[in-house]
Amino acid sequence: MVAPHVGIDAIATHVPKLFVDMPTDFAASRFLDMGCSSREQLASKITNGIGIRKMSMTDAHEDPVTMAAMAVRALIEKTGIDPQDIGFLAVGTESGVDQSKSAAAYVLGILENYFDRPMRNCMAPQYQFACAGAMYGLESALNLFRSGEFSKKYAVVVATDIARYELKSPGESTQGAGAVALLISGNPRLLAFESRTLGSCTRDERDFFRPNWRKTAVVDGKYSTQVYLDVVQAAYEQSIARLREKPENEGKTLSELVPHIVCHVPFPKMAEYMASRFLPDILRSDASMPCDLPVPPKNPTTEQIREHEKSVRAHPTFQRAFQRTMADSLHFAGEVGNIYSGSLFLALASFLEQANPADIEGKRVLLCSYGSGATALVNSAIVQSGYAEAHAKFSLEEHLRSETKGGRRRQITMNEYEYLHGLQDVAPESTATQTKFMTRKSLVAPHDEFALVGFGEQDNNHGLRLYKYIR
Ligand code: CAA
Repeated sequence: MVAPHVGIDAIATHVPKLFVDMPTDFAASRFLDMGCSSREQLASKITNGIGIRKMSMTDAHEDPVTMAAMAVRALIEKTGIDPQDIGFLAVGTESGVDQSKSAAAYVLGILENYFDRPMRNCMAPQYQFACAGAMYGLESALNLFRSGEFSKKYAVVVATDIARYELKSPGESTQGAGAVALLISGNPRLLAFESRTLGSCTRDERDFFRPNWRKTAVVDGKYSTQVYLDVVQAAYEQSIARLREKPENEGKTLSELVPHIVCHVPFPKMAEYMASRFLPDILRSDASMPCDLPVPPKNPTTEQIREHEKSVRAHPTFQRAFQRTMADSLHFAGEVGNIYSGSLFLALASFLEQANPADIEGKRVLLCSYGSGATALVNSAIVQSGYAEAHAKFSLEEHLRSETKGGRRRQITMNEYEYLHGLQDVAPESTATQTKFMTRKSLVAPHDEFALVGFGEQDNNHGLRLYKYIR
């Protein structure tokens, strides 16, 4: 397989220190609201039915900008690159902090101060299409290299988000927060993207959106899962059709074409729902293995499709194929929760860290993004040999360890969680003529990190976000 050389050179993830423990504190507090008869019943639904064990939470001094800056700082420090070699710093987010100013400009300013290196020739856009924003940023970065226009060594794309739903709503257990930074280069050590394999699908949908005045999303949960499945499938089919057009793929079965798949993971079970669309065709294409999966009904209703896909997921042949093609990508999602635009790349980091290098080196992986409202981009990349060594210093296992096991993450109570959930930039007592900013008291004082320390209060900077590195 010939790998054209532009792709992902390094991946650094930043997850806030605070988390809510789902099967204990969350389930004990919410089981009646969620229609369950006991804590144990809700705990089982959240951990087994949805796939979440811990939900990461931002402290009062953290926001999408500080998380993005922390992820990019780790990327720069661990790779040892010069910030002045970065010519494109894109932020993908759906938790934008400003209606006008790019979050990437804030991140750039923080990094310039921290590293004491001006980055004035760097482009710094913000990309938004729900959870697919960073994938759009990644495609732009790849194309900058391919076009020959780019004069710098590196591009950085950072996905950063805080996933928030209403308290006591069905989506509440699928919240989370975090940022994932990707270093893009013309000599990538992790993944090299193939050319002319991008598939896309966009539909004007109402599945999930957040009007300007709301802090939490308006979501039709069950419908959103159906839109996800249909839109990702359409983009996947286009990407497969483009792979088939390549002379080097002639005569290959679908199972040879698609050995590994990494999807956007709003919650781990969603990836299994998606797999029940992808895997049956892949398995049936492999004549060397008899496929005994249930056969789909003729002219099915939506309900019959759902039941059929559920019976597929329960089948041992499906479960074996799922372990082989997708399961490694889901390990960290259950430890972090949904991080919207970063979830696909958290899944990619998980795939690279959990898979056996002998099983994936030199193999194709399809990256399937999804953004509500709704869009999907699917693209194909080849895992580079030696990737595991290059990625080892970015290991997430240690970053995600909790204090009780000697790590950095702290479990918070439901009262503390509800306090943080209720924080806003603007205080409720503000009036049409006078904006007051909310007092934000951190649960854990910031240490060796970037912090939101306030808002400009003068006429010429009113509402500007003020960030500082706290030693
Ligand atoms: N033990 C084990 N499993 C249990 C259980 C128990 N006690 N009780 C229920 N379950 C299982 C159910 O059987 C179900 O599994 P199957 O689908 O295999 O049958 C699973 O747990 C989930 O149960 P429900 O469907 O009843 O869950 P729900 O209605 O409470 O909510 C949800 C699920 C709709 C996804 C909700 O969490 C939600 O609204 N989430 C936010 C929206 C979202 O993430 N949508 C995803 C697509 S949109 C997207 O991807 C963009 C994005 O990032 C948001």
